[in-house]
Amino acid sequence: MESFDQGIARSEFPELERVLPNGKRVVYLDNAATSLMPVQVAEFLKDFYLTHKANVHRGSHFLSNEATDMYEQSRQVVARFINADAEEIAFVKNATEALNIAAFGLKRVGFENVLLSIMEHHSNIVPWQLHGFALHYVGLKGFELNLSTFDELLEKIEEMSMNDKGVVAITHVSNVLGVINPVEKLFARAKRKGFVTVLDCAQSAPHLKLDVKSLKADIIAFSGHKMLGPSVGVLYCNKKLDLQPLLGGGSMIKLVTKNKSEWNDKPLRFEAGTPPIAEAIALSKAIEFLKNIGLQNIHKHDKELTKHAIDSLSSIKGLNLLLSKNNYSSIVSFELQSKLNIHAHDVAEFLSSKGICIRAGHHCAMPLHEYLKIPATARASFYFYNNVEDVNALTQALKQCVKFFKH
Ligand code: ALA
Repeated sequence: MESFDQGIARSEFPELERVLPNGKRVVYLDNAATSLMPVQVAEFLKDFYLTHKANVHRGSHFLSNEATDMYEQSRQVVARFINADAEEIAFVKNATEALNIAAFGLKRVGFENVLLSIMEHHSNIVPWQLHGFALHYVGLKGFELNLSTFDELLEKIEEMSMNDKGVVAITHVSNVLGVINPVEKLFARAKRKGFVTVLDCAQSAPHLKLDVKSLKADIIAFSGHKMLGPSVGVLYCNKKLDLQPLLGGGSMIKLVTKNKSEWNDKPLRFEAGTPPIAEAIALSKAIEFLKNIGLQNIHKHDKELTKHAIDSLSSIKGLNLLLSKNNYSSIVSFELQSKLNIHAHDVAEFLSSKGICIRAGHHCAMPLHEYLKIPATARASFYFYNNVEDVNALTQALKQCVKFFKH
């Protein structure tokens, strides 16, 4: 495995070169919210809109045929990226839409119970609530999933379910705790009992090599904008799974009569209306970029930089880290409220004045914060273009922040 040249990688992201009016450089540590975009993806988008814009799957002219070919080739690239078949990949708005399709589509074929974890993002809670599922939550042991409760809940749902076996829908990597959940193990147990498995890969697809077959996921969801691309989502749905569409309209049908319609095959049945064409194609450019860096290199870099962040931030008195020190991805959440009474939003604002971008609040994970009895956390999240200087800038600014609010 060849390592990557971080200096060259950084130079592909002009946003990192911005100098603010106060002379500070941009330290971008909000990658779990969205990643930056490299020049080649942005240039592809510009070129597509200026010279290739046309609709897909509809045209009888060469521009439409070209756009359709590019769109379908991108589907192949995304499929290979996660070891799926192209027919299993649908382009949607974002990971949230993909999870809404999962909840609606499974409810329509009779599923009633879903096993979630307390660390889920709202996008993997609210859709199941919206469609009337009975919700069963796995709690935590430390900052990791409580695995024995997971097994107990599987059994409980199995006993309760009359006609179906239930759904397990969990996140691969928590967007707050950064913990990598042992999905292969959990899904293997769930599949043995006949459950359908849904995986939220919004935080893992940008960082970890995904293989839907070894993950044993029937459905997965992720977002292009967190992995160098524009706003486009991916829904993977195992070709053997019967999943009903959520949105109706053009392209998703084979036949429409006045009173009923016949759905198109997957994946087109999930792509009602004109899809985000340029964005879906640009995602393949982002994936090419990631492959050149190497997912293994990204993971190694994540581990090293996050370890450095954990060590540095641990030296700040009164700062409480919320993570498992054994099993983390590239996210470090912390709080300074319980001991120092400094609210996460004040922390984020102070850091912003130093050019450092982090996220503060509940991170769309209110049930987790309620469970932890912490109203808000501050979160630094890294990507391969972040370096030790970025982490050192964060640590130094946090020390200044503590001084500022405590004097
Ligand atoms: N889901 C994104 C985050 O956690 C927006 O910040």
